[in-house]
Amino acid sequence: MTKPGKNEPMLARKDARAAEKGARTAQREAKHASKAAEVAAKASRQYGAAPAVVNPTPAEPPTRRTGKPRLRPAVAALPAYVPGARGDGRPMWKLSSNENPNPPLTGLLAALSDQLAEVNRYPDMYATELTEALAGRLGVAREQVVTGNGSVAVLAHVLTALVQEGDEVIYPWRSFEAYPIAVGSSGAASVRVPLTADGRHDLGALAAAVTPQTKVVILCSPNNPTGPSLTEEELREFLAAVPSDVAVVLDEAYREYVDEAKAVDGVDLLPAFPNLLLLRTFSKAYGLAGLRVGYAVGAPKLVAGIRACSTAFGTNTLAQHAALAVLKREDEVRERVAATVAERQRVLAGVRAQGWDVPAADGNFFWLATGEATGRLVADAADAGLLLRGFAGEGVRITIGETDANDAVIEFLGDWRR
Ligand SMILES: Cc1ncc(COP(=O)(O)O)c(C=O)c1O
Repeated sequence: MTKPGKNEPMLARKDARAAEKGARTAQREAKHASKAAEVAAKASRQYGAAPAVVNPTPAEPPTRRTGKPRLRPAVAALPAYVPGARGDGRPMWKLSSNENPNPPLTGLLAALSDQLAEVNRYPDMYATELTEALAGRLGVAREQVVTGNGSVAVLAHVLTALVQEGDEVIYPWRSFEAYPIAVGSSGAASVRVPLTADGRHDLGALAAAVTPQTKVVILCSPNNPTGPSLTEEELREFLAAVPSDVAVVLDEAYREYVDEAKAVDGVDLLPAFPNLLLLRTFSKAYGLAGLRVGYAVGAPKLVAGIRACSTAFGTNTLAQHAALAVLKREDEVRERVAATVAERQRVLAGVRAQGWDVPAADGNFFWLATGEATGRLVADAADAGLLLRGFAGEGVRITIGETDANDAVIEFLGDWRR
């Protein structure tokens, strides 16, 4: 038993003050929490967003000090993203990044300049108007659409929402080089399934690669860089074969360029497969690569989770207004896409007649499996004024560009074979 001492009244006063302070803090926190809950509930009513965690559990204290910040091992092991070559100052045709070569669509520059005076303000956090416009265009509910800073960013948010260390993400390989980076950053393990000899997804092998650890399978149709798209029948079969708790992410960045009648349009399969998530972008057919707008479409619950993990205000003001402006120019977009598809057919006919073996090309690019000769071909192309995307030891991807650029490609490839 402690003896009452002369300091007792002072200690009691101190205790009372501490208790008062504690009560005030608790009151403030409760107010904070109820405000946060209100905001989360409102977002949930409007967009189906997952409620925010108001009082997250504090992180475990580190058990061991290392003297300097250390990257997670998964991050240190990430491959570098190799962007399409940008040229060295010589006049060149840039056919290395699958960009849209057309000038801005009608009304785009005006829509952008209208917004320039507003850039001191944050964008609409939920890109409400754009989300609604996309939902209307695709015939889905607005709770099924979430936008982001390019579809690559949306993919990162998808993975944040669905996977953690110890999980596996399967994807075909070779495919889009952002996949290994996105999966590696998420902490999950990459499981790569080789393409077939004609550059297609090996769907049987992809389905067979699913294990209890598999959380996500990424598919790319048309496949970057090889070109072929998936058929609806193939995808239906695949989705029926994989467990329904595995999310299947179908990257349709080049969907607008597909003129193959049997090719899948992911939107048609969404009602039957709630584990299907689509990724789409304004970077290709809509010509907004520099503004960064992409989106995911899927079941409301999945989309709410992705939204909860998304970068706050990630779709910037100019991007939102630009995307809305180009959505109003669908006829012009279709005309331009048709012109690119016609050019693709012309180039493919030309180079196939020269003896090149070109796999099906359903996007705005085509693939030549040049193997060990790839480096030499890419260097020779640069000397001929053509920037191409080489994959060392594998092949070269060539974007369908301006008519003159395409003429130069046909001429170069014809000369190179001789
Ligand atoms: C298959 C694929 N998905 C996504 C993207 C990138 O889209 P975004 O510009 O919307 O990030 C690309 C770009 O090259 C791509 O090839």
